Amino acid sequence: MSTPPHPWWKSATVYQIYPASFLDANGDGTGDLAGIIAKLDYLKDLGVDVIWLSPIYRSPLADMGYDISDYEDIDSRYGTLEDWDRLLEGAHTRGMKLMMDLVVNHTSDEHAWFTASKSSKNDPRRDWYIWRPGKVVDGEELPPNNWKSVFQGSAWERDPATGEYYLHLYVSKQPDLNWDNPVVRSAVWDVMRFWVRRGCDGFRMDVINIISKTDGLPDAPLVDNTQYYQPASMYFANGPQVHRYIKQMHTEVLSHHDLITVGETPFTHEASELAAYVLPQNRELNMVFHFELMDIDSPSESPLLRKPWTLSELKAIVGRWQRFMRDDGFWNAVFIENHDHARSVSRFGNDSAQWRAISAKMLAIFEITQTGTLYVYQGQELGLKNFPRTWGIEEYNDVASQNYWNLIKEQRQKAQGKEDVEMSDLLDSFALKARDHARTPMQWNASAHGGFTTGTPWMRVNDDYPEWNAERQIGDEMSVHAFWKRALKVRKAHDVLIYGDFVMLLEAHEQVFAYTRNYGSTSALVLLNFKQGKAEVDLREAIGGVTGYAFVLGNYENEGIGLEEKVTLRDYEGRVYVREALLN
Ligand code: GLC
Repeated sequence: MSTPPHPWWKSATVYQIYPASFLDANGDGTGDLAGIIAKLDYLKDLGVDVIWLSPIYRSPLADMGYDISDYEDIDSRYGTLEDWDRLLEGAHTRGMKLMMDLVVNHTSDEHAWFTASKSSKNDPRRDWYIWRPGKVVDGEELPPNNWKSVFQGSAWERDPATGEYYLHLYVSKQPDLNWDNPVVRSAVWDVMRFWVRRGCDGFRMDVINIISKTDGLPDAPLVDNTQYYQPASMYFANGPQVHRYIKQMHTEVLSHHDLITVGETPFTHEASELAAYVLPQNRELNMVFHFELMDIDSPSESPLLRKPWTLSELKAIVGRWQRFMRDDGFWNAVFIENHDHARSVSRFGNDSAQWRAISAKMLAIFEITQTGTLYVYQGQELGLKNFPRTWGIEEYNDVASQNYWNLIKEQRQKAQGKEDVEMSDLLDSFALKARDHARTPMQWNASAHGGFTTGTPWMRVNDDYPEWNAERQIGDEMSVHAFWKRALKVRKAHDVLIYGDFVMLLEAHEQVFAYTRNYGSTSALVLLNFKQGKAEVDLREAIGGVTGYAFVLGNYENEGIGLEEKVTLRDYEGRVYVREALLN
């Protein structure tokens, strides 16, 4: 019996572009579609199969485009619909696909749907958003409930014209759509059809697991007694109707096309809930971005703060998801960077001058040897790292950083009864964890602003661009870029790395993450030293014999080295071996 071929998106390498910071072709300081078009050969050469564009729709950029005021037009900073068509054609001609960011939990408050909704209680679009009267407590009017917005403060904004409040789980310029209204859902299907008709190959769906809110919008339990507003994700993450709505999306739109779909699903690590979005028999999405690994170093107060993580925690998380419901068809999205997180080499590797390149390459091996669809974030292929601690708060543009900074500052000012309060500890945390680190402009060459723009960049370029840039790395076989290119080829050449099972070895080892992957008659062995300092690994018991294993990839100059029963891995060393079954 022959097995059906795997769908194309399983073996794809997806490259995420943050358009504002990719390449500015017209010198206005912001990246644009023409800049992306100019780099299509760069992407193809790297080994990219699918380009995912963070939002480029018309937007007031309250949250860098995750606040859309027109779903069917391109923001003029980025170009025009015709530029988008040219980008699509350029990608398709090179055998690459183009995936759009679908941000439909909320719109911008400047979207025509919202301006209509806000205009009067009787407007036909009133019910497209979530409006409620305030609640009066002891003669004082409060928002309808105590939900805290993800970006601080109340999740409700009072509109003086009608005296009612609208829900915004993010900033007040991002009102949440009312998905319980079937007309809203139809409007979303129409947006999707618009882009599919134009030729897009799939969607990354922004916070798609929060579109259905619990009936009655009950108050959240008190967990933080420093403030009135409380985290409320138990009432909006994986809400009561979410699977019904996504199934409807599948029936109405997705099932008619061969698309790649990935849902962003934060606020939950609940495996059975996450599985429900992905299992093929449910007919919802191809895969989700869950955040169990990304949350590993975040305390509950805020992802902008840092808590220490251990390798055993990381192994447990990755091991669980790599093995999770494979027989039922669950499929992973493998990523360690995106526009919402600090740079991976600064979080999971070692970004010091001595270890930066080596540890960035080790992390590349970590990613390309996992089962799932692979995602690479712009600049990751160059080993870009966080910007320095010496940069002040004025360099942090992100609304999440700004709002959190202001909140803590106000709290301290109040508590200490003075204006001038010490904030350097928060800057220490931001230097490690802020989203801003992923948003600095791409470093293309050693010219001013890293060759990103001939104008003034919307965000400062990291200081290391004269040395750390694409041009320099492309010509250097030992560079992080050259390594990523090789690593992506190795992955494509070995189906076992994409589809194989996952067996964790040496589970208790505190320094090394080791595993085998098996697919048909092929096995792969992966050894990753996540720490500085040598690590001894004894493979005798772990895999039985070492005969037949051929070296295929490593981040030190060690081509051609065989596998022995006792291996000493150097600092941050990673190696991959593959063994084809011996035919008797
Ligand atoms: C997603 C996006 C993030 C944005 C948020 C609100 O998490 O990735 O950048 O701020 O949704 O749209």
